[in-house]
Amino acid sequence: MKTAIRGALLTFKDDPFVRDMQDCMVFEEDAIVVMEDGKIAAVGPAVTLLPTLPAGLEVTRYTDSVILPGFIDSHVHYPQTEMIAAYGEQLIDWLNNYTFITEQGFADKAHAAGVASVFLKEQHRNGVTSSCVFGTVFPQSVDALFEEAARYDMRIMAGKVCMDRNAPQALLDTPQRAYDESKALIARWHGKGRAEYVITPRFAPTSSPEQLEMVGALAAEFPTTLIQSHLSENRGEVEWVKALFPDCRDYTDVYHRFGLLRDRAIYGHGIHLSEAELDVLSGTGTAIAHCPTSNFFLGSGCFNVKQARDARRPVKVGLATDLGAGTSFSMLQTMNEAYKAAQLNGFALSAGHAFYLASRGTAEALGLAGKIGSIEVGKEADLAVLNLKSTPIIEYRMKYARDIHEALFIQMTLGDDRAIAATYIAGKRVHALGG
Ligand code: GUN
Ligand code: ZN
Repeated sequence: MKTAIRGALLTFKDDPFVRDMQDCMVFEEDAIVVMEDGKIAAVGPAVTLLPTLPAGLEVTRYTDSVILPGFIDSHVHYPQTEMIAAYGEQLIDWLNNYTFITEQGFADKAHAAGVASVFLKEQHRNGVTSSCVFGTVFPQSVDALFEEAARYDMRIMAGKVCMDRNAPQALLDTPQRAYDESKALIARWHGKGRAEYVITPRFAPTSSPEQLEMVGALAAEFPTTLIQSHLSENRGEVEWVKALFPDCRDYTDVYHRFGLLRDRAIYGHGIHLSEAELDVLSGTGTAIAHCPTSNFFLGSGCFNVKQARDARRPVKVGLATDLGAGTSFSMLQTMNEAYKAAQLNGFALSAGHAFYLASRGTAEALGLAGKIGSIEVGKEADLAVLNLKSTPIIEYRMKYARDIHEALFIQMTLGDDRAIAATYIAGKRVHALGG
């Protein structure tokens, strides 16, 4: 079935970290997007498209709004939805005192399905149409998420966490179980509808060398899968990894040795990386998921996006909430905090750069830019509609915005879930504010 929406439109056709912003950002004051069979069938200025539309095609009009590519969250833990905003700890204590207790509940598939339902609805309320998700060690927790996402025909990437040491017994698998259970999930889900599998060793401290060896072998066996983990988030963690892997040159080298760095591999955080490590990430095509709300919440530090994206040896960067260490499902709020993280590194991240990171940039980092992340004919019809006047103060402040760059900056600094007027997944509206 054909449907269409009309409003202002923003998308990116290239990377503003590499080329001038005016060659990358596309902004239309009044555009139409036609959707058919889950894809974008036509897009362009309303004046040119209107006469071409079939008679009787209903066009939903959004005023005071901008149609955006749906946001992509490149690193998020759905089981942690029930423990977002847990007080008082840095990474390792936070994991032991909150996370590892919460995740034990996901042995129960019914419980997992309930949390997956809340999690996906909250993503849709925030304009997030696609995400790369950690499950728990229990394969049924991953089935539950994939099943729930399939109800929306949502492009979801997820994996079973592999961990065989340094956590409670109930959360541990073994090298062989990690391999077998992940392989069975790949057979069940990878490429089924819009689902893709992500091989997911939690992080170096919770996997033995034997387990990393086996997940590396699995990644070689299934080169079209994604890989996700954590890297260099917290200074204590970095020291711990040095002690656990004394033969490795640095934290990045641990994953490199086990064949876990490649295109479509994405690692959360990457805050305390050396130039040598950034060089290896760049050379292998590995991406970093920048999770600023989480990094501030856990006191981990400030990721340097400008240094990572340095055109001389660019590292791909996706934007991410990292819930539940992250404190918001909102990608607008995540951009807001990314701006502050950049400021502390001496770089003022522009709204154009931030909106790029939350859409096309993250799609590039995940190897998905051919399918999602921009509004172009043939791409999948995942869209978010941003209401530019979602609160009294935003409406007031917008009167003084002089151009689209200032307007977008106001939105990412002050906006949240209230600014998402509607969310479309595969051409179907899955969320409408107040409706
Ligand atoms: N490192 C290993 N596991 C986790 C996790 O669940 N959250 C965060 N923020 N870092 C981690
Ligand atoms: Zn994480």
